Amino acid sequence: MRKVLQKIGNRYCRWQLERALPGIHAQLKAYSKGSTTTGTQAITMWAAVKRILKHRPNWILESGTGSSTLILAAAVHRLRREDPTYQGRIVSMESVPEWHATAETMLPDACRDVVEIVLGPREKFEIAMFRGYIHGNIPKHDYDFVLLDGPKFWDERGLAFCADIFRAMELSSAPVIHGVVDGRASSVMVIQAIYGVAAARYWHFRYAAGFSLPKIDFTDADLKTSRDFRCSPTGRLSWVHFRR
Ligand SMILES: C[S@@+](CC[C@H](N)C(=O)[O-])C[C@H]1O[C@@H](n2cnc3c(N)ncnc32)[C@H](O)[C@@H]1O
Repeated sequence: MRKVLQKIGNRYCRWQLERALPGIHAQLKAYSKGSTTTGTQAITMWAAVKRILKHRPNWILESGTGSSTLILAAAVHRLRREDPTYQGRIVSMESVPEWHATAETMLPDACRDVVEIVLGPREKFEIAMFRGYIHGNIPKHDYDFVLLDGPKFWDERGLAFCADIFRAMELSSAPVIHGVVDGRASSVMVIQAIYGVAAARYWHFRYAAGFSLPKIDFTDADLKTSRDFRCSPTGRLSWVHFRR
């Protein structure tokens, strides 16, 4: 049932993407001839494009480059055409040198005015009580949108999570960061644990979650008391300090 719903959802979102960004499918088809990248599902990309068109981010961070970069670039180009004062840009991170080289070669010239592809080998990242992985070398900008689709997030200690959203918070002075997670349930779990379930709802048939997260300073020395946790009648603890 889940797979059927996901298939229908992806078909509908592909149609929506082509309506919003005419010609995008032809571009993706041409890209797929030179790259075997896994791609990012249409459900996720349509959620990302809707949010980009709504929030008009100035700095988009893409974690995991590939065909998705073309879609982000098309959304930024559409906003630039509609409003010549809009100056949105995309930093697209890749952790694996081979995939980085392929992405650099395959990026269409038409995207280069708004996209910078950066090689950033993955690095361990710890935030509060969570262990994750980020791309190294993320350039410092005021990111206000993140598409979370990399890097690899497991290691010899087990499953961690993709943490670039929290690295972006460290680098950016934007008060709120919007974005979408593709798959990566562990990343959504961490977001839910910190901000509450409503901050990033996830359903398996969607295999994606959107979010709009206020910036947090996790090193704040006041965040240490048991008052930051709520205890349910059944003994379930929730970290409520950052919930609204
Ligand atoms: C889910 S992929 C990213 C896909 C990308 N957003 C796209 O739309 O093409 C996540 C990571 O897997 C790696 N990767 C890319 N293509 C791959 C392939 N064909 N096989 C295995 N790993 C790949 C890269 O390191 C990439 O950043």
